[in-house]
Amino acid sequence: MAFVEAPAIARPVTEPPRTARDEGTGGLSGVKGGVGSSVYCMPYKSRVNGVPRTSYMSAQGDQLRLRAVPVDGRPALRPFFGYYGGKWRDATKYYPEPKHGLVVEPFAGSAGYALRYAHLKVVLCELDPVVFAVWKYLTKVKDSEIRKLPLLRPGQSVDDLHLPPEPSWLIGFWLNRATASPRKNPSAWMRSGVRPGSFWGERVRDTIASQVEFIQHWKVYHRSYENCPVKKSATWFIDPPYQRAGKHYKLGSEQIDFRQLADWCRSRKGQVIVCENQGADWLDFQPLASVKTTRRGRRSVEVIWTNQPRVRP
Ligand SMILES: C[S@@+](CC[C@H](N)C(=O)[O-])C[C@H]1O[C@@H](n2cnc3c(N)ncnc32)[C@H](O)[C@@H]1O
Repeated sequence: MAFVEAPAIARPVTEPPRTARDEGTGGLSGVKGGVGSSVYCMPYKSRVNGVPRTSYMSAQGDQLRLRAVPVDGRPALRPFFGYYGGKWRDATKYYPEPKHGLVVEPFAGSAGYALRYAHLKVVLCELDPVVFAVWKYLTKVKDSEIRKLPLLRPGQSVDDLHLPPEPSWLIGFWLNRATASPRKNPSAWMRSGVRPGSFWGERVRDTIASQVEFIQHWKVYHRSYENCPVKKSATWFIDPPYQRAGKHYKLGSEQIDFRQLADWCRSRKGQVIVCENQGADWLDFQPLASVKTTRRGRRSVEVIWTNQPRVRP
């Protein structure tokens, strides 16, 4: 990406643009170097499923930074890792917005719904110890630590990086697309270098680093859904391993008693949104949408159960 020295305008280095209106729409705008160094920013604004996503590139000396910028007080975050069955892309397209200030994902995975409303209180429960540990790490880690994580050289595996388990797993999730567990070696797709923004590399590392500050208030529990500590009214986004298709997870549908899960879903206080796939029969599911999957050319027919009157998005 080319950086052009732009005329200085009054926007302090330490204060990134806060609203969509403050942002340019792709042009360059300069930032006055208020702390003695010149900083040039390239803001850009895009919409993902109608939701403004605002981030900007900034350069300080030879450092290039991608920063997530809150839009009207709401950070527009991208997935911290890709995950099999992740709902980030479809969360704002098909599922209702939260009606409560607390969002609970009792089957967290990559928490695709919570990421869209990351500024709210968020509680995640996840039974898979690896997925849980990655979230715990992400909610505690400093952006500077993420920026220090190494990239993989050709022929290297994650083990060659000699990192603690959590960052190794985080990187491992970025070595292939939408897996249910971290990988050790880059997939053929990653090695081909075709989509650098989809695999572990500078861009992904920068995105994660720029976002960790926005999830520090999230609470993450290594628990099964039925032991989720939330008792009060909340928006419950319940996305278990699918009854028929959810066998790819380390903790998949075989270990779930769906009759018990149905009772538990019905007894939640507040707004309850349950995700499933066509053919599931443990609640009275209604058709939602035919959505793209990560497998080329494959679609999945999604269904929904909610305790709220349905308003079609
Ligand atoms: C369909 S995925 C959730 C995907 C998520 N909505 C997303 O956007 O990535 C289901 C998740 O539930 C986890 N899980 C399976 N059994 C569980 C249980 N009894 N309690 C909590 N989590 C469980 C799996 O490990 C998996 O991460």
